[in-house]
Amino acid sequence: MITFRQDDQADMGENMVTVNDRILQEVNEIRNRYHDARSCLLPTIYILQREVGWLSPGALQMVGELLNIPKATVKGVSTFYAMFNHQPMGRHLIQLCTNVACMIMGGEGLSDILKERYGLEPNRTSPDGRFSLVIMECIGACDKAPAMLVDTDLHGNLTGEGMIGILEGYT
Ligand code: FES
Repeated sequence: MITFRQDDQADMGENMVTVNDRILQEVNEIRNRYHDARSCLLPTIYILQREVGWLSPGALQMVGELLNIPKATVKGVSTFYAMFNHQPMGRHLIQLCTNVACMIMGGEGLSDILKERYGLEPNRTSPDGRFSLVIMECIGACDKAPAMLVDTDLHGNLTGEGMIGILEGYT
């Protein structure tokens, strides 16, 4: 079992995070699929983000140690992709689309409703730590506009009331 220090997690109430045997096994299974450790970089970053909640400096360091890749390389790759978070996130990530199809169908107004109901603004986390919000360009569900992702769940044909009803299911 490997443990590592979360240098900047004081506000999360947890200073130590453990990479347990399950996580190590998951990383090793990915590692065994490829000849080159760099090919495992994205899925390993994903695993650490899933387990820690965001990519703290400690999490990035652990990815580097697990794959024997410099931390600078890990950071460079992880900051390239929008799906990786470099700040603490709420328990659930809302990705709300406001691109053309969703905008026409009322997607922009949904953002206002999120602010009113949860105090949630784009690129921020609600005061209770329940939700983080990211405004997306298009999540590929234009036929169900307006649409959002909550974590990995797709929800379409949203109305303000319907959206709140859905979100109340995420505690
Ligand atoms: S424009 Fe919103 S899902 Fe495509």
